[in-house]
Amino acid sequence: MVLNITKLGEDVLRQKATPVTEINDDIRKLAEDMFDTMIAANGVGLACPQVGLSIRMFVIIADDDVRRVFINPQIIKTSEETCDYEEGCLSLPQVWEVINRPEKVTVQALDQNGKPFTLEADGFLARIIQHENDHLDGILYIDRGDPDFAAKTTEQFKKRAERAAEKAKAKEEEIQKQERLAKEAKRLQEQLEADSKDPNRVKIREAENTLNQIATISKEINFGECDEK
Ligand code: NI
Repeated sequence: MVLNITKLGEDVLRQKATPVTEINDDIRKLAEDMFDTMIAANGVGLACPQVGLSIRMFVIIADDDVRRVFINPQIIKTSEETCDYEEGCLSLPQVWEVINRPEKVTVQALDQNGKPFTLEADGFLARIIQHENDHLDGILYIDRGDPDFAAKTTEQFKKRAERAAEKAKAKEEEIQKQERLAKEAKRLQEQLEADSKDPNRVKIREAENTLNQIATISKEINFGECDEK
């Protein structure tokens, strides 16, 4: 199941997530949904705050195509050597920035079955692990880049969210208007049905029918007179 992805400006992305206390079927289902969500969005990693849940778990599919689930992860070692890489994030669509981070990391975590593991990673995998782990502490990659760019991007998303809120409000108002119109139409329909059963109305319709019949007969009478001439 594909979940909604939270966007920059939403509080949950800025909160420090709490540890997962129990690794059960719900957590495993959540991890599967996160893989679905990430794949649908062409991502390589997704952290729980990005689906609105402030808990310490993220999922990754790096360039080796392995599905990895990290629960309550801890980066226990980072290399001295750093490297640059252009990062993006599903919570900041259409934004990219070159970020400098340690080249290698060692991470300890639990997998989806609650089994502890230690992973030494470098390259692309190390990059994603650090990016996703940051999400669990309310840190976004733009926080690690140029502060002016971060401020500009934050402002841009704020405006985007405001526009989206305005659109949602207009849509809601339109729905309410349609509901009012539908109610009024239903009321008129009921009125019409009630009127059709009203004896006075029935009499008026009978009178109208009689008038129509008289008019028809009158035409025939006139026709007869004309015919005689
Ligand atoms: Ni991200």
